Amino acid sequence: MGDAQEWMTQGDVREPVDLKTDRPHAARVYDVLLGGKTNYPSDRAMAEQVVANVPSARLTALANRSFIHRATRYLAADAGIRQFLDIGTGIPTSPNVHEIAQGVAPDSRVVYVDNDPIVLAHSRALHIGHPEGRTAYIEADAADPDGVLAAGVLHDTLDLSRPVALSMCLLLHWLPVDADPYAVVRRLVGELAPGSCLVITHLARDLDQDGSGGLESDFKASGSQLKARTKDQVARFFDGLTLVEPGIVPPNRWRPEPVVVEVGSADTNTDEYTAPVWAGVAVKDS
Ligand SMILES: C[S@@+](CC[C@H](N)C(=O)[O-])C[C@H]1O[C@@H](n2cnc3c(N)ncnc32)[C@H](O)[C@@H]1O
Repeated sequence: MGDAQEWMTQGDVREPVDLKTDRPHAARVYDVLLGGKTNYPSDRAMAEQVVANVPSARLTALANRSFIHRATRYLAADAGIRQFLDIGTGIPTSPNVHEIAQGVAPDSRVVYVDNDPIVLAHSRALHIGHPEGRTAYIEADAADPDGVLAAGVLHDTLDLSRPVALSMCLLLHWLPVDADPYAVVRRLVGELAPGSCLVITHLARDLDQDGSGGLESDFKASGSQLKARTKDQVARFFDGLTLVEPGIVPPNRWRPEPVVVEVGSADTNTDEYTAPVWAGVAVKDS
């Protein structure tokens, strides 16, 4: 066990969750960048290194969350989606996908998936949804899509014969290359009905000079793999699908709204700033 534990309650059973706080975890480093409190000294040290490599990292994290909010509103309000499968969901940070989706359509159903014990420990926050809708949480490894698809909770909550929005935001660059992230996405999308959508954000190799290379080596030194990809490589995740406008762009350029998110004196929607991340939403036509 690491030096900190949280408790997970499942039915009547309360079990300790080992948080392995001796090394940084993606979910907790991201929480630091978002200004959250669910993190430990190893995560804060890594977040400092991340900011040293990519000074815009905090803005980028906020731009990514803001993209998720706009994309979810688009999916619920414009595309008529009522079912969401959010893989690599992260530590709950309000508003979560179900809050946005159920704000548009209260009967929306959302299944969250992550493999980090701290997300599991805090997953209770993901279950408090609108009474007309439903939310559920699955602890599973995205590198094993068959395991995700076999989860009873998935089928109890979502009807895969009807459209689903599958989101994998800031997740695919964490999957080991030998797990073939492209095959993972193909396997999951292959199970979805026509009219389903795929939402991806992914660390960019070609938008941030060599900042992403620095991040890759920092995380490698701490025992985690991270692989940034170019726009063309990210586009391959959407093969066979139809991208909605404006295609694959940095998250703060995807249908920006005139909402100013301030960090210091910065604004995540300005044209001068480019988040070193690729973001896109696509539809499965058939
Ligand atoms: C940077 S956070 C992104 C959170 C959220 N999707 C967002 O974009 O705001 C990445 C999340 O992916 C999760 N993750 C990384 N590898 C995973 C895997 N193999 N299976 C499931 N989740 C994974 C991490 O635990 C973390 O919560």
